[in-house]
Amino acid sequence: MTSKLTASVVGGGGGGKLSMNALVQSQRFELVAAADINAKVCRQLQEAYPGIRTFAGHRELFESRPTDVVCVSTWAPSHEEIALAALELPLKGILVEKPLGHTAESGRRILQAVRARRLPLAVPHGLLAKKTPLEIIARVQAGEIGQLKLVEIQCARWDIINAGIHWLHFFVNLTGGEDVDSVMAACESSTRTYRDGMQVETTAVTYAQTRSGVRVVMNTGDDVRVNREDKGTLFRIVGTAGLIEFWGWENGYVLLNEQFPAGRLIEPEEFDVTGHRRHLEKLAAMIDSGEADYSMPETSLKALEMCEATYLSSRHRCKVDFPLAGFRPPAESDWDPGRPYSGTGGGRDGRKL
Ligand SMILES: NC(=O)c1ccc[n+]([C@@H]2O[C@H](COP(=O)([O-])OP(=O)(O)OC[C@H]3O[C@@H](n4cnc5c(N)ncnc54)[C@H](O)[C@@H]3O)[C@@H](O)[C@H]2O)c1
Repeated sequence: MTSKLTASVVGGGGGGKLSMNALVQSQRFELVAAADINAKVCRQLQEAYPGIRTFAGHRELFESRPTDVVCVSTWAPSHEEIALAALELPLKGILVEKPLGHTAESGRRILQAVRARRLPLAVPHGLLAKKTPLEIIARVQAGEIGQLKLVEIQCARWDIINAGIHWLHFFVNLTGGEDVDSVMAACESSTRTYRDGMQVETTAVTYAQTRSGVRVVMNTGDDVRVNREDKGTLFRIVGTAGLIEFWGWENGYVLLNEQFPAGRLIEPEEFDVTGHRRHLEKLAAMIDSGEADYSMPETSLKALEMCEATYLSSRHRCKVDFPLAGFRPPAESDWDPGRPYSGTGGGRDGRKL
């Protein structure tokens, strides 16, 4: 029997509790400590997870109770500081919540630092630990709807950086990790909404294409109307010979192709453990084998680049060409599409194609 890995969690909110529950349920871990800047949260955690020690911050936690595994489950802007501090410990593995950082650069610095220590890293994207999305990826990649052309995503009440990153991470995996060519987006911010430590859009539309021309169109935000009754999230995956529809976290999907021309609802049997537990147990397996697989963090970083590109595109009113690292915002333009052209002021004659 392999010995249990001691574990601690920084950030005791929704995401932190997904990790804490998984750690308690799994035979591979022993949850021993948690940190949260909110004293009330610490008291609640002590009640919910009897026997754990709690701390007012990650520094106190790391000093007093270093563990084999640390889960960084705070809001994105603090991930880098906490993850880099955790890497100073004699750590065996680390979990960093999505989005890896509040910018792609920050996420990349975390991944580089983890890689430099050759440590296993989990980024718990729930869709990649659920039967429905995994089965869909396998079917699409086996050509069951022909050649993949378009993924449409409708997501009510949530935003690009917090929920959209899960959806775009699924898209990245669906395309087999294909490089992104460009992203264009428009975000409106009428309600000045913030969520999980980030300013987010009230409503947005994101349009991206990969190098081979596969498109993703994603509509996120408060008043997005999902065009299937009773669904808060919808994916429509279009190929040259069929389509698949599914509904985010819900189990089940409709497959329409030559074999099922009227569409067939398929409801796979869900895994019997939670997504966070699957991700954490994979982390334990990597620790056991001594081999770190960075495919999940790498694809998460690709999705984070797409999220950042949507905000950049909207902020600078421009198309964001990839690689993102080479992006420079264009000079501000007084050209205003949709206004009559006065006949003076330069420009390009668009009739000369
Ligand atoms: N993978 C998933 O399915 C999933 C699900 C939920 C949340 N998350 C992620 O988890 C992270 C946290 O989101 P949440 O939903 O738990 O938010 P939350 O608001 O529910 O909880 C965040 C907690 O972190 C604490 N906190 C903030 N800054 C801290 C710091 N510097 N040190 C210690 N504690 C700190 C807050 O007091 C709060 O209790 C985000 O990155 C989010 O995207 C992931």
